[in-house]
Amino acid sequence: LERQIRGDIDAAADEAALEAVRVAALGKKGSVSERLKGLGGMTPDERKTMGPALNGLRNRIAAALADRREALKRAGLAARLAAEAVDVTLPVRLGGLAEGRIHPVSQVIDEITAIFADLGFSVAEGPDIETDYYNFTALNFPVGHPAREMHDTFFLPPDAAGEKLVLRTHTSPVQIRSMERGTPPIRVICPGRTYRNDSDQTHTPMFHQVEGLVIDTESHIGHLKWVLEEFCKAFFEVPKVSMRFRPSFFPFTEPSMEVDIQCDRRGNEVRFGEGDDWLEILGCGMVHPNVVRAGGFDPDVYQGFAFGMGIDRIAMLKYGMPDLRAFFEADIRWLKHYGFRP
Ligand code: PHE
Repeated sequence: LERQIRGDIDAAADEAALEAVRVAALGKKGSVSERLKGLGGMTPDERKTMGPALNGLRNRIAAALADRREALKRAGLAARLAAEAVDVTLPVRLGGLAEGRIHPVSQVIDEITAIFADLGFSVAEGPDIETDYYNFTALNFPVGHPAREMHDTFFLPPDAAGEKLVLRTHTSPVQIRSMERGTPPIRVICPGRTYRNDSDQTHTPMFHQVEGLVIDTESHIGHLKWVLEEFCKAFFEVPKVSMRFRPSFFPFTEPSMEVDIQCDRRGNEVRFGEGDDWLEILGCGMVHPNVVRAGGFDPDVYQGFAFGMGIDRIAMLKYGMPDLRAFFEADIRWLKHYGFRP
């Protein structure tokens, strides 16, 4: 009997077949179970020898079943692993999204950086979370000055040292950080994220600016005008632009100006260097002596100019995008339409 059951166990090809063998041997009406039941009708002497023999048989069969079940399980797992194996060296199947796109903001930052690199500027960066000192005080915003309110600032809890923190409302704090880091002549642009509590078709709470700063001993307002004109011609890809410098106010420049650029507007399409419409594109001025001093230099020796413009805004103008909010909604269809090929 034992040899026959062991043969069945070895022949069972899967766990279901093995279970059938188990029921046939050890189930309620199984061959081994039936014999164990037969013990009741035996004489005490017969039982003494047959009892241990049959119990031993049952235990050996149970152990053989368990071994076989374990082996089948292992074989099944090995087969599945072989069948479902993934060749990680195969090239990726790209489907409909064969290629990513460069976001217009990244593209425009690259364009701006390349143009100013040709003019001798390098790139500087500062943190998005700024101290009140760098964002306002060092930039000649007196404490309690109404210009602080004009920025719709996002305030943060003070840091461990008790410094007042804000999400920077402009890239101008990088002016101070650049002066602290370097020595004149300083020629930097500082592109980056900026934040103001404001949201409509042309404003988002997070947006991008690029700052420009030149500090040396002889730069004057004529250099500022020339740099901005060269930039606008290169960026808007026109041979000539007319620019209008309107007097304005920023605490950190004196004099301060806002700059408009000549264009022709037809709906969303804007042509630069022609027509009689004007679009405001940036703020600028000569760096205020207090700011030069906050940067660590003597304003009687060093001077210079600064400018700041909205990257998203000039991207919209150049590429005819109607709604700024779409820039930050991560809609893949929008990106496919307006994004740039790498
Ligand atoms: N920081 C100013 C703004 O956000 C722009 C600016 C920069 C003006 C540098 C003058 C000089 O509006």
